[in-house]
Amino acid sequence: MKYLLFIMLVLGINVYGQNKLLIPDALSGTSFELNIQNGTVQFYDGQITTTMGTNGNILGPTLIMNKGDFVDIRVTNNIEDTTTIHWHGMHVSAANDGGPHTTIAPDTSWNPKFTVLDKAATYWYHPHLHEKTNKHVSLGVAGFIIVKDDDEAALELPRTYGVDDFPLVIQTKEFDGNNQIIVPTNSDDIPMVNATINPYLNVPAQIVRFRLLNGSSQRVFNIGISNNLAFYQITSDGGLLSAPVQLTRLRMAPGERAEILVDLKGLENQQIKLMSFASELPSGIYGAAQPGMSSMMTLNGYNPNPLNGANFDLLALNVKEQTSEAVTTIPNKLVTVTPLSEDDSDITRDITFNPAQMGPNQLNGNFLINNLHFDMDVINFSIPFNNTEIWSITNQSGIAHPFHIHDVQFYILSRNGIKPGLNEQGRKDVILIEPMETIRFITQFTDFANDSVPYMMHCHMLVHEDGGMMLQFEVVDQTTGTGQLFPTNRKLKIYPNPVSREFDKITVEGVENGWLHYELFNMNGQLLVKKSTKSAQKQFSIRVDDLNKGEYVLKVMGNTETVAGKIIIR
Ligand code: C2O
Ligand code: CU
Ligand code: CU
Repeated sequence: MKYLLFIMLVLGINVYGQNKLLIPDALSGTSFELNIQNGTVQFYDGQITTTMGTNGNILGPTLIMNKGDFVDIRVTNNIEDTTTIHWHGMHVSAANDGGPHTTIAPDTSWNPKFTVLDKAATYWYHPHLHEKTNKHVSLGVAGFIIVKDDDEAALELPRTYGVDDFPLVIQTKEFDGNNQIIVPTNSDDIPMVNATINPYLNVPAQIVRFRLLNGSSQRVFNIGISNNLAFYQITSDGGLLSAPVQLTRLRMAPGERAEILVDLKGLENQQIKLMSFASELPSGIYGAAQPGMSSMMTLNGYNPNPLNGANFDLLALNVKEQTSEAVTTIPNKLVTVTPLSEDDSDITRDITFNPAQMGPNQLNGNFLINNLHFDMDVINFSIPFNNTEIWSITNQSGIAHPFHIHDVQFYILSRNGIKPGLNEQGRKDVILIEPMETIRFITQFTDFANDSVPYMMHCHMLVHEDGGMMLQFEVVDQTTGTGQLFPTNRKLKIYPNPVSREFDKITVEGVENGWLHYELFNMNGQLLVKKSTKSAQKQFSIRVDDLNKGEYVLKVMGNTETVAGKIIIR
């Protein structure tokens, strides 16, 4: 069947709009039951496809939450694999975040509870088990979270779910000869929206809101509408923009969300299409004709893929009669967006992406971040609580990577030194970084600290992430205002700081029962020293004479208290 579809695509025969778009059920309130389960879907004639879903065969219900609510979620794992569920984009404590350390064994449940602190926008949930994220997401586990708040409610926007407000998760998959989903794949040749192949949706002739999510394993889409109809982006990943941004194209990388408004007035009885104009993607992006920056960089199975560098349909929109309570105008303002100021930054961290080795087929990886490969047992960054930080991320590999960070939303300061476009001036948690590009963003690590569970930062191309293009960080409480140096008013005293390499040792005072662990990192998050010691004294010293002069992060775990902060060796 897929070969027939392929031939029809090549011949330009319109095969779109045959299947009614699936709209996931919506659940609202403050308590949610999610069951991760095996399922089946009849995608093609003949053999049914084995899938995974949440509360159903594939995908999962849309969870509608209000900012300020305290939600209680029970996630039960009814599949054979251990898995996790992560609330992508939401600002929750690390223990509630559902990263790879918070596993849910088969036939057990996990019960996170948290206050919704996020701004109104579209978030999503998906599994995050290390090395199995791609499998679980590709087989179908993914769902939307819609957060509502007063600022959003005050605006005249379409918000009737399934009537003028639609979640659209865009994915590509590959099927084998028995109609089974292949994971991982570079031959993801079947686009689908809401797990529906060749979908159509009836929409009213008024302003309609689409909550777009790129839920693909790897592919970047260049969203547009047939006939180049303009649309208006109103949110970035984590909140409303200051005003709708008029666009005809919107590039979306895996993990990114964007809500758009489309004005369908006057188009009654017509059909328009949501498309990906991938022919316009520059080289170096998965989805372009040439995925690597140069022909040296190849990818097995990539080229015989009809979607690469091609324009293809995603969703046919059949415009029908206007509803009685139609929104008919695009607002000209949305909310006040107040990005953090560069002047408030405590530290700049440099992050680099690079391939572990150059050579053919390197586009699958493996890729490193600051020359490091993911290790479940190493916390790469100890970030002082409440720190405001600028991260400067440079991609020195031949393919674009969508960088994602847990816990926080960030504001992009620049792309290669240039201020980003208007639609990238809002809150973000994923950013596509092209080859040889440097992106600087600013963020602040508020509210959650001192958890024993780390947060993740990683490439959201799931093949890269599973392959180890991921690091982890902890936010550690300390009490200084600047976040620069250790506090002096704590049980654990650490001095002197700065410390002289020639004359001093660092003294750690206030160690109870003599137990002490400490870890020393360079500013790139690389663990240099890790020690546990039992000392009879209530103090302990750390020698620094074999270290280079410069700045380090020291994390000290006493019996009852952990502190971390920057130390300077002179
Ligand atoms: Cu969408 Cu770390 O995840
Ligand atoms: Cu996330
Ligand atoms: Cu990547």
